[in-house]
Amino acid sequence: MPEIHPSIREFDILCAETRAPSCGVVVFGASGDLTRRKIVPSLLRLYQRDLLHEGFYLLGCGRQELSDVAFREHLAEALDGRGVEPALREDFLSRFYYTSGSYDDPALYAALAARIEELDRTHGVQEAHVFYLAVPPGLYPTVVDHLGEAGLNRVAGHDCSRPPRLVVEKPFGRDQATAEELNNRIGRHFAESQVYRIDHYLGKETVQNILMFRFANTIFEPVWNRNFVDHVQLTIAESVGVEHRAGYYDTSGALRDMFQNHMLQMLTLATMEPPASFDAEAIRDEKVKLLRSIRPIRVGDLWGSDILRARYTAGRVDGRDVPGYLDERGVQPDSQTETFVAARLFVDNWRWKDVPFYLRTGKRLARKLTEVAITFKQVPHSMFASVGLADMPANQLILKIQPDEGIALSFQAKRPGAKTCISTLTMSFNYSELFGTEAPEAYERLLLDCMLGDPTLFSRQDAVQVSWALLAGVLEAWAKAEAPLHEYPAGSQSFAEADRLIQADGRLWRPLGDS
Ligand code: BG6
Repeated sequence: MPEIHPSIREFDILCAETRAPSCGVVVFGASGDLTRRKIVPSLLRLYQRDLLHEGFYLLGCGRQELSDVAFREHLAEALDGRGVEPALREDFLSRFYYTSGSYDDPALYAALAARIEELDRTHGVQEAHVFYLAVPPGLYPTVVDHLGEAGLNRVAGHDCSRPPRLVVEKPFGRDQATAEELNNRIGRHFAESQVYRIDHYLGKETVQNILMFRFANTIFEPVWNRNFVDHVQLTIAESVGVEHRAGYYDTSGALRDMFQNHMLQMLTLATMEPPASFDAEAIRDEKVKLLRSIRPIRVGDLWGSDILRARYTAGRVDGRDVPGYLDERGVQPDSQTETFVAARLFVDNWRWKDVPFYLRTGKRLARKLTEVAITFKQVPHSMFASVGLADMPANQLILKIQPDEGIALSFQAKRPGAKTCISTLTMSFNYSELFGTEAPEAYERLLLDCMLGDPTLFSRQDAVQVSWALLAGVLEAWAKAEAPLHEYPAGSQSFAEADRLIQADGRLWRPLGDS
C-alpha cells in the first residue's frame, strides 16, 4: 500500500472496494485492439488488487481462428512490463479461452452457449455473465439479435443468479435516428437494466471526483450558480492525431467522437442539480434533466454560430513534424471531417440562465489537457481602486482531469512588504503527489462496476438520445456544408474563429501550455 499523506483523513468505511461476484465475461472482437490495450490490462489490475472472484474467466470470441493457447499468447504481450509475477501471470492467463466463428452464424452462439456452460462449471461461476461488444458498431445489431435468439440474454439455466449484462462501446449510433434504432434493437432482447453503455470518461477518477467535490462539501455549492459564476470552460485537448483509426475517425469526427459523449458527460456532472442519493437512477435522472435544459445550439445562422469546426493541417507537435489531417493514412482525399469543435452553450434553468459554457475539443493541439475551469465573477467593487487596483482578477477554480490530476483555486492575497501590493496565488493539490499512487485506468472501474451490476457510471438510453437530439441541427448543417470547416496547424492552441467566438464576449480561452 502506498503511504498516505499525513494530511489526509481516511474514512475507512467509505473506502471499501467491493470484490466482483463470480463472473464469466464473453468478449466479441476479442482479437482486436481494445481487448489487448484496455480490457485485459484492466482485468489484470483488478486481479492484482484481489478484486476479481476466484470464479472468473474470459471467453474471447472472434472471426480469426485461434486456439485457447494461441489466444493466451496473443494477450500475454499486453501484460509485459507490468511487473506481474510469473505464477500470477500464468494463473491469470489460464482463465482465458477462445471460440471462433462468424458473427452472423447461429452455430457460433450455440457453440458459445455450450462453452459458457462448461466454463461456468470449471470455474464455479454462479452469478453473472457479461457480454462485451468490442466489435465494429455495424455488427452490434447482428450480435445482439443472435444473443437474444440463442437465449443468452436470459439468466442461464444452470444456476446463474443474475441476468446477463451487455456492454456496448461507443459510438452509440451516429445521430438521433441511428441511436434510437440501436436502442430499440437492443431493447428487443435486453432490458435497460441489463445494458451498460460505456463512456470511458465516466470511469476516470477525476471525472467522478466532480460529484464528490460538489456534493460532499458545503462551501462550493452555494457559489455554483449564475450569481457567482461568470463562465465555465471545458477543454479536452489532445496532442495525438487520428493514429491508426482514420477509417473510423474519418466517418465520425470530433463532434461524434468526443463532444456528444465525453464532453457532454463532463458538462452534466459539472452543472446538474444535486441528486437526492448516490444511486444510479437518481444521478442519471439529474443528468438527463440537465441535458434537456441545454439551449438549442445556433449553427451557421445569420447572426453567427455557437459551434465551430476545424481540422488540422501539417505542423509540429511534441518537437516533431506531423502531417495534416488530409495526409493521414486512411483519410479520404475529399474528407470534410472536423478534428476540432469549439462551442458556446447555455443551460436554460434557474441555476445557470445566461452563463456561457465554452467547450472545445481537438486533436493535434499543443498539449494533452482535460479540465473544467470555473471563472467566478469579479468583486462587485474594488476598494483598492484608489491604489491602482480597480480591475481585480476573478477567482478561478480548475478541476484538472488529466494529466497532472488535481484541483487548483486561485485567489488574491497581499504580497509581503510595506506597499499595498496584491498577487494572484493558487491553492492546489495534486492526486498523485498526495495519494502517492497513479489513478486507476478508467476501464478498471467500469469493468468492475459492470460485474457488480452497478450502472451509475454508464450512459442511460434517454441520455444518449437527448444528447444526439441536441446535436441534430449541427450534424445536419455540417453534412450540408452549411458551415465552414476552418483550419489550424498541428500544434496550435486553437483556431482563429474559435478565438473570436469567445473574444466576442470579452473573454479568452485558457492557454493549453506548450507542446
Ligand atoms: C476516445 C476517442 O473515446 O477517447 C479517441 O475515440 C480519443 O479519439 C480518446 O483519443 C481520448 O481518451 P483519453 O482517455 O486518452 O482522454
